[in-house]
Amino acid sequence: MNDLVLSNALQVVTPLQEPPLRGKELAEIEVLEDVNLGIKGGKISAISNTPLESRRYVDASNCVILPGFVDCHTHIPFYGSRHEEFLMRTQGKSYLEIMQAGGGILSTVEAVRAARIEDLLSFNTRLLGEMLSRGVTTVEGKSGYGLDKDTELKQLEALRVLDEIQHVDVIPTFLGAHAIPSGFKNPKEYLEYVISILNEVREYTDTVDIFCEEEVFGIEDTEFFLKAAKARGFKVRLHADELTSLGGSKLAARYGALSADHLIAADEDSLKTLADSETVAVLMPGTSFFLGESYAKGRQLLNNGAILALASDLNPGSCNIYDPFMVIHLAVVNCGITIEEAINAYTANAAHVLGLGGNKGLIREGYIADLVLLDLRHYREIPYRFSHDIVRMVIKDGEVVLGD
Ligand code: NIG
Ligand code: FE
Repeated sequence: MNDLVLSNALQVVTPLQEPPLRGKELAEIEVLEDVNLGIKGGKISAISNTPLESRRYVDASNCVILPGFVDCHTHIPFYGSRHEEFLMRTQGKSYLEIMQAGGGILSTVEAVRAARIEDLLSFNTRLLGEMLSRGVTTVEGKSGYGLDKDTELKQLEALRVLDEIQHVDVIPTFLGAHAIPSGFKNPKEYLEYVISILNEVREYTDTVDIFCEEEVFGIEDTEFFLKAAKARGFKVRLHADELTSLGGSKLAARYGALSADHLIAADEDSLKTLADSETVAVLMPGTSFFLGESYAKGRQLLNNGAILALASDLNPGSCNIYDPFMVIHLAVVNCGITIEEAINAYTANAAHVLGLGGNKGLIREGYIADLVLLDLRHYREIPYRFSHDIVRMVIKDGEVVLGD
């Protein structure tokens, strides 16, 4: 007997294969029509054209069902607002100029250092609740607004507690190498400090990230950090070629990074190198939109055969956007990605980045029942109707958590 059956779904839309999906594979998607979806013990127990027995039924005859979205790159937990900085950019100041003047990331660092953990929890619980209401059921979050041991660990602890106290699953990454705080002579000296706290970080996560960027951590510094982190058993991710073409993506491929993220400024050669590797190219067109920058070359990456994922990059500076429908809209309009590719990139491949492929990101028997029911007649309406109130119900671990 099932716990719940979503009956007569108009469409059940799912990636066809387990990730990683590469190049052409992202164009394929499975669309089942008029099916019943059984859920038992938090997992998908049956997908059938014939009626299923259940304790409870939800009529899905007017719904398109998708796997819950997996947002594989955000900067929660943060605190405070940088709306003035945003407005300064509209008056001509650039993101890097603001950062060099002590604004930007460092102003959020001040806010996060001053915040009590309770403040971090309430602020970010609210954000996660908003994300859930848009169908996001798993979120990666990063430290990186502490830049000292105590605050970095406070952020990682906040991520651990956030995972427990609300519905969205939270996967932590350590981003101590996000900026250089005052008191250090050079980037290398700060990275040595970051490396010295990795033992304590290990209690919370096995994955680190670094902001490889002009005026932040250059190629040599980044390589120094990647070597040290890998030698200590950590998996690595990189903010690569986000604003300038430094070569971070090539480094990511060379060091077998889980992902190279952003890639707005990546050159042709970098896009090829990445496509030939196992490293996932994570595109976040919300950041391009929010900063008024150009967009990463998604079409080229896919034509070259890359493993591609989409994410929000939600953070208080460069991208205060969490909506997966808006990100999909931007990817389809500006990165040359089709709606089918975008769905695969925000579900199966995003789950793969977080080591969750095989459990999440597909609608298949045995997978975790994280689902979003959309008030649409066809999944291809998503990029067109992205700003509408289309989420009818969200199911997390088999429970109806929204829209009951
Ligand atoms: O992914 N690039 C560095 N980190 C973030 C921005 C963080 C911030 O501005 O607070 C990003 O764009
Ligand atoms: Fe980021």
